[in-house]
Amino acid sequence: MNKKDITQIKNLDGKRVFLTCDFNISLKNGSLTNDTRIREVIPTIKYLLRRNCHLILASHLGRPKRHDLTFSLKPVAKRLEKFLGLPVELVDYYWQDKALPLINKISPEKIVLLENIRFYKGEKNNDPEYSAHLAKMADIFVNDAFGASHRVHASIVGIAKFLPGYAGLLLKKEIDMLQKALHNPQRPLLVFIGGAKTPEKISVIEKLLDKADSVALGGAIANTFLAAWGFGMGQSLVDYEMVEMARTVFWEATRKHSALILPIDVVIQNSHTKNKPQIVNYDLVPSDVAIFDIGPQTNLLYRKLIHNAKTIIWNGPMGYYENKLFQKGTDRLLKDIVQADAFKIIGGGDTLSFIGNQKYLNHFNHVSTGGSAMLEYLKNGTLPGIEVLQNN
Ligand code: ADP
Ligand code: 3PG
Ligand code: MG
Repeated sequence: MNKKDITQIKNLDGKRVFLTCDFNISLKNGSLTNDTRIREVIPTIKYLLRRNCHLILASHLGRPKRHDLTFSLKPVAKRLEKFLGLPVELVDYYWQDKALPLINKISPEKIVLLENIRFYKGEKNNDPEYSAHLAKMADIFVNDAFGASHRVHASIVGIAKFLPGYAGLLLKKEIDMLQKALHNPQRPLLVFIGGAKTPEKISVIEKLLDKADSVALGGAIANTFLAAWGFGMGQSLVDYEMVEMARTVFWEATRKHSALILPIDVVIQNSHTKNKPQIVNYDLVPSDVAIFDIGPQTNLLYRKLIHNAKTIIWNGPMGYYENKLFQKGTDRLLKDIVQADAFKIIGGGDTLSFIGNQKYLNHFNHVSTGGSAMLEYLKNGTLPGIEVLQNN
């Protein structure tokens, strides 16, 4: 990595550190569904605490449009306290001028966590005035929010104009591991992409076709590709604005001699009658139903690919996993990948929420805290939130 990390900072002791993290974790009934994104930042926090730094943590959660406490970081603050054995003070209305002296006065024995950084619109707009305001809270900026480093937002990019920025230990680890998969990967290199963020994932697929031997799809993104191929998708989640782009990607795949592989069977249900889910071929989806998962034949096909692969990268669930009826495709894929004798990387907020379980995560060489960020890193070899940090 050509960026300075926190172990390379001179005179770090006693500094006030603005530490941006990615604690964007899905909540279920107000509780965290997975705490990997918190666990993974603990080494950076502990390192800085050992150097007597005062910590001001920032993160977003979800996509709130305004100050809305259903997106509060309170469950994150609680979990941090548990992991660190230290009090964490959650500070709301941090964007007001009067918050600055208040934050300054908080005892260094406590860790400051700003409430959801997206409660103020200046965050997403990367507003320079707001970035300067955030910068006033600290002496240096540390980015450990790998999962959000593809966003050009104030707490990730803007603040680095006003404070020297360094990589946290998690950011460094993510970069080192992904570089390993990108440069001279053991082949065949197999990539699975699922989930629903079609617009941002589709350009990654295009780029990965240059590098991977096969890219296999599932989830809602596969629906868009099947639609591009001309098959009726009924009531399935399809991003019709992306269909044309999907067609281009198909065409490019044939020219690049890399394989773009789609589900051959799917699990369908009528969303209104909620009848028992059925399995049908990809080209036989009735107009009144929606696809919610990949079918067992697809899993068999994917298993063969997994068996031969030497490097496997996976992002995105294969179906609407929040409903137990539609978890099987993702579950079978997980179990097959876990068994594989390959260098294995997994990433994605929902992908990790689905797995939830350390027993499975331990089988991966690297569990990335980034979903789209991981994919964008694989696509471009860098991210906006990395570019703004101090060079080595
Ligand atoms: P990740 O966070 O792992 O990168 P995404 O955010 O792209 O993944 O997508 C996860 C979402 O995709 C989940 O909410 C899941 O229910 C949804 N999804 C996957 N397949 C389907 C499908 N066939 N129909 C509707 N939603 C789907
Ligand atoms: C993620 O979960 O992918 C990151 O936290 C970024 O979230 P966003 O897509 O809402 O910017
Ligand atoms: Mg997601």
